[in-house]
Formats: sequence, structure tokens, C-alpha cells
Amino acid sequence: VIDIRSLLKETGAFTFDPGFTSTASCESKITFIDGDEGQLYYRGYPIEQLAEDSDYLETCYLLLYGELPTKQQSEEFVNTITKHTMVHEQLTWFFRGFRRDAHPMAMMTGVVGALAAFYQDSLDINNQDHRRVAEYRMISKIPTIAAMCYRYSTGAPFVYPRNDLSYTANFMHMMFSTPCEEYTPNPVLVKALDRIFILHADHEQNASTFTVRLAGSSGTNPFAAIAAGIACLWGPAHGGANEAVLKMLDEIGSVENVPAFMQGVKDRTHRLMGFGHRVYKNMDPRAKIMKQTCDEVLKELGLENDPKFKLAMELEQIALNDPYFVERKLYPNVDFYSGIVLSALGIPVSMFTVIFALARTVGWISHWHEMIADPLYKIGRPRQLYTGSPRRDYIPEDKR
Ligand code: ACO
Repeated sequence: VIDIRSLLKETGAFTFDPGFTSTASCESKITFIDGDEGQLYYRGYPIEQLAEDSDYLETCYLLLYGELPTKQQSEEFVNTITKHTMVHEQLTWFFRGFRRDAHPMAMMTGVVGALAAFYQDSLDINNQDHRRVAEYRMISKIPTIAAMCYRYSTGAPFVYPRNDLSYTANFMHMMFSTPCEEYTPNPVLVKALDRIFILHADHEQNASTFTVRLAGSSGTNPFAAIAAGIACLWGPAHGGANEAVLKMLDEIGSVENVPAFMQGVKDRTHRLMGFGHRVYKNMDPRAKIMKQTCDEVLKELGLENDPKFKLAMELEQIALNDPYFVERKLYPNVDFYSGIVLSALGIPVSMFTVIFALARTVGWISHWHEMIADPLYKIGRPRQLYTGSPRRDYIPEDKR
């Protein structure tokens, strides 16, 4: 076994690797991606099995603690998470500072950052109990905050959490219940959203997780580190991709326009959103599960002939047989079909990345915990290759 840390110390290795395409920034026991085989494992369990047989909170437990819970551990965990779903009432006032038309991700970044000011007892990150409380709080409160972002943006009153519902059904209740009518969760739709949460729960050192680790490596408050992750996730090359996929499908409009759109991709005018991945060079295993989920949801809602689903399948088939995509090993990623599912569930496009952030929170917090618990962790501090001006002397303003 090679001791990477001593090897680096001995060789003094210094690499130039823009985009970190081949640089490991840490060791981790949480998630393994086999990009060539198109496989994803959480703590050793294949994503297909978790998506089929587990539920989101059990998957959260697995990611946080490394093992599947026993019945008793599961009950205790669900109970703890359920008890922390309320946010401080004063946090609800925080929203009033935002414009109603603010992007929910902008609000989410601000409000999650503000949690640091409300829960100051989570500040001693070297205390294992404090860390665990911060983690519970984060996982429990993120659906409440996500739903509040949506309600605020529509001008609707906030809906308080219901402890008798499952984690995912409660989120749908907070999104869709009104003072006149309580939302009745449909088990097929709840299962579909729960599966979306599982598929997005972790993905090793993606940009937002790396951001959380980097921010957290300074010893900052965990809520502040998570807010940094949310900000990073927002971009269209990362969590904003499913939103971009739906916009793209709208722009293409119908199957007849696909050839012209594909020509634009090859001419590099635009990209085929929801395609390609930095690590998967075969197939994103989550995309397959998402396509199946999409099929189930549309059937449940009687939307089998949904034009966007048909257009997406057509695009996928054309791309999979096109040498441009084959040569570059570009396959559908998890976001290619997730937007269609979320739309069918009644979730507006502006909330798509918020849903992703909600689901990924457990991954971020698990990585943060793993890093802080490692006695050898250091502040992240990449180097650079300086390409600017050589030394020169200051010139007074009247001589420039
Ligand atoms: N459409 C068209 N061409 C593409 C696409 C795409 N979606 N993705 C990559 N390419 C091409 C590039 O033009 C490049 O071609 P070249 O070698 O001829 O220059 C080649 O494939 C490699 O692309 P890179 O951008 O170098 O690959 P990278 O690993 O940096 O990017 C990324 C990965 C950002 C995901 C990219 O594939 C992309 O932009 N996809 C669309 C956005 C998307 O779906 N993002 C979601 C990712 S999954 C997630 O965050 C959950």
C-alpha cells in the first residue's frame, strides 16, 4: 500500500491540473464511482439497490455513519430528524428581505448561511456531539427551507412541517398544501421524489462537495460551508443542468428541429444539456434509473404521451448513435430525465436546483464530517502557476 502523504512529502510533487481532472484532493470512504464501468456505490452498496430497496433517510444514515441502520437505529434516526424540521421563527422573517422574484437558489444560499447565526451551539466543530447536532439540523431543516423559498417566491404563506409524514411526503406537503386544502401525498409520486433524493445524495468530489470541503477546511461554521456548496451547485455546468435541459427541450420544441439543434452542438454553438460527465465515460447509472422513474411517474399521471419525454428519448437515441457523442464518450447524465420527472410532480423549473441541493446536503455534511474527524486534515490551499508581469517599479501617476 502506497502512503500517498509521505510520497508527496518525499518527492515534493507539484502538478498543474486545471479543473482537477486527475488530482485527488482527499481520501474518502463514502462514495465510489467506477467511471469506466458506469457504476456508483454509496459505502459499497450499488446505487441501483439503494434506489430500489432503500429510502432517502436510510440512505442518509448510511452515508453519515457508514452502515445500514438496524430497525432501532433507523427509528431513532427518523425520530431525531423529524423533531428538528422546524426552523427558528425569526428565520422566517429573514425571507422578507428578499425580492419575491429572487431565484430560490439565491435565497437558499442566504438562508442556509444565516443558520450559522441561529445555531451558534454548533460552532465547536471539534466536539463530535456538536457536529452530530449540526448534521441533524441540516438534514431536517433543508426541506423546510427549500419549501419556504418556493412559497415565498409565489407569495404563498409558509406551511409548517408535519411530523406524521415521511421526510419526502412532508416536503411535498410543505410545497403544495394551502390553507384551504391539505396536500394528499400520492405514494407513487412520493417514491419517485424519494428516489431522486437518493440518486442525488452524494457523488464524491464533485464541484460543490469539493467546495464544502474546501470552505470547511478553514474550520468555518458547517452551515456557512454548506451555503458555499449551494452557491457552487447553482451553476449550469453542475446542479443547474436539469433546469437547462428543460429550457433546451422547450427551445427545440419538436422532433423535426432535432437535426438543426444537433448541428449546432457540433458547430459548438451550444451543448446538449444533460449529456456528458467528467467521470462517467460509459453510462451514468443514475440516468437509467431516472429514465425508468420518469416512465413510472408519467404513467401514474396519465402523461405517457408527454411531448417533452418523447423529445428527450428521441434526442437520446440520436446522440447515442452519433459519432460526435460516441467518440467523446458522451452519455445521458442523471439530469437528462430528472427535469421531466420534477415537472410532472408539479415542481417549477426554478426549484430544480433547490431539490438537488436538498438531496445533496447529506453528501456535503458527510464529507465535511469525514474531513473534520480526520486528525490529519489540513486547510485546502491549491498552488498556481504565475503567468503575470515580472517584477517592476511603481510609476507615479503623472508619469504613466
Ligand atoms: N454537448 C456537446 N458536447 C459536449 C458536451 C455536451 N453536453 N459535453 C462535453 N462535450 C464535448 C466538449 O465540447 C469536448 O469536445 P472536444 O474534445 O472536441 O473539445 C469534449 O466533449 C469534452 O468536454 P469537456 O467540457 O472537456 O468535459 P468536462 O469533463 O470538462 O465536462 C460536463 C463535463 C461539464 C458535465 C460537460 O459534459 C457538460 O457541459 N455537459 C452539459 C451540462 C450537464 O449536463 N451538466 C451536468 C453534469 S452532472 C451533474 O452535475 C449532476
